[in-house]
Amino acid sequence: MRRCFVNPNDDPDALAKSLADPGMSLRQGGLVAFPTETVYGLGANAFDETAVCRIFAAKRRPVDNPLIVHIASLNDLDGLLPSDYRLGGTERRLIDQFWPGPLTILFPAGEHIAPSVHPGRDLVGVRMPQGAVARALIAQAQVPVAAPSANVSGKPSPTTADDVAEDLAEHIDWLVDGGECALGVESTVLLVEEERAVILRPGGVTQEMLASVIDIPVVFDRHLFDPAGAPLAPGMKYRHYAPDAKVHVWWGEEEAIYAAMREFMLDEDGRPWPQMRPAIIAPRDFLSRYEIHMPSDRLGALPPDDYSAELARSLYQLLRRFDRAEATDVLVYGVDPAHGIGTAVMNRLQKAAEGRVVLVGY
Ligand code: TXA
Ligand code: MG
Repeated sequence: MRRCFVNPNDDPDALAKSLADPGMSLRQGGLVAFPTETVYGLGANAFDETAVCRIFAAKRRPVDNPLIVHIASLNDLDGLLPSDYRLGGTERRLIDQFWPGPLTILFPAGEHIAPSVHPGRDLVGVRMPQGAVARALIAQAQVPVAAPSANVSGKPSPTTADDVAEDLAEHIDWLVDGGECALGVESTVLLVEEERAVILRPGGVTQEMLASVIDIPVVFDRHLFDPAGAPLAPGMKYRHYAPDAKVHVWWGEEEAIYAAMREFMLDEDGRPWPQMRPAIIAPRDFLSRYEIHMPSDRLGALPPDDYSAELARSLYQLLRRFDRAEATDVLVYGVDPAHGIGTAVMNRLQKAAEGRVVLVGY
């Protein structure tokens, strides 16, 4: 693996220059991990079936799970869709408003896309990432880039280059290091139908944001919230985003969250369980108010202002850190899943926690 460092704030010419070699590698069948505004992606030329198959092998990804294709400009869309396909009004509005950005839209797949990008389905997910590094890299590659998150399947997604290296160093040709991802949680995956738009995976663009721009109802795939259901995005059916430690989430009323956490960590005499090595993620003011102390490698004390966004940004990184610290259990102060970015974060937590999510106090 070769690693190249880029500064996302560099001007376009400098970015293009630093990314020439990884771009060339992509075009010629290489595997290149790169930062986007959501998480790091593991990219391959979307027209090259052999290269795309290498992604599945490197990640140990189930082969029925389709990949998102990343583009740098709207012109790139032409080569991906059937030549006679015309964008509908809703699609146009979504693209105008949210591209570049964390929104993946499903389109009918054109004939040149490598079959393994959309195994057994007629639709392909496409997004134009917001991150300048990602777009400069795709422009250098001169091909659309198929990329899942750059983690081994089932592990938390990577939001730093070190996270990628930890999982995939032996399997990739280039690692583009552009620092931490700004959003920390993956893109929203959206299926646009005639009468409604269906969120297959909640993500960076929220239901409220989508609903404010299009005039058909925006609904969630109902299987998303049904543990026994078969979600429309195959990726949502796997135990996913999960660290080695057990994750437990409480949300609702603050005092009740504290009581539940305390009851979990202490025995009936108020002593810590000897076998337990807890880690905790919560707002900083909550931790100090209730005098909860934890060694720093098992502590995620987040700024209370805009806690949901902070939780989204740092969740995966913290889960990885807690695994390195050999935490047995991760206790999370959850957020309301009905609003904003909270839906995406709580969806990932629900999966990491395998259902151990409890509403308390109301
Ligand atoms: O933010 C993101 O979307 C990141 C960055 C790298 O762009 N990518 C990402 O890819 O999260 P991945 O492969 O980890 O997740 C893609 C999700 C999976 O749940 C997959 O099943 C769903 O999108 N998906 C992709 N193409 C689909 C299709 N044609 N039909 C249904 N679901 C699809
Ligand atoms: Mg993933």
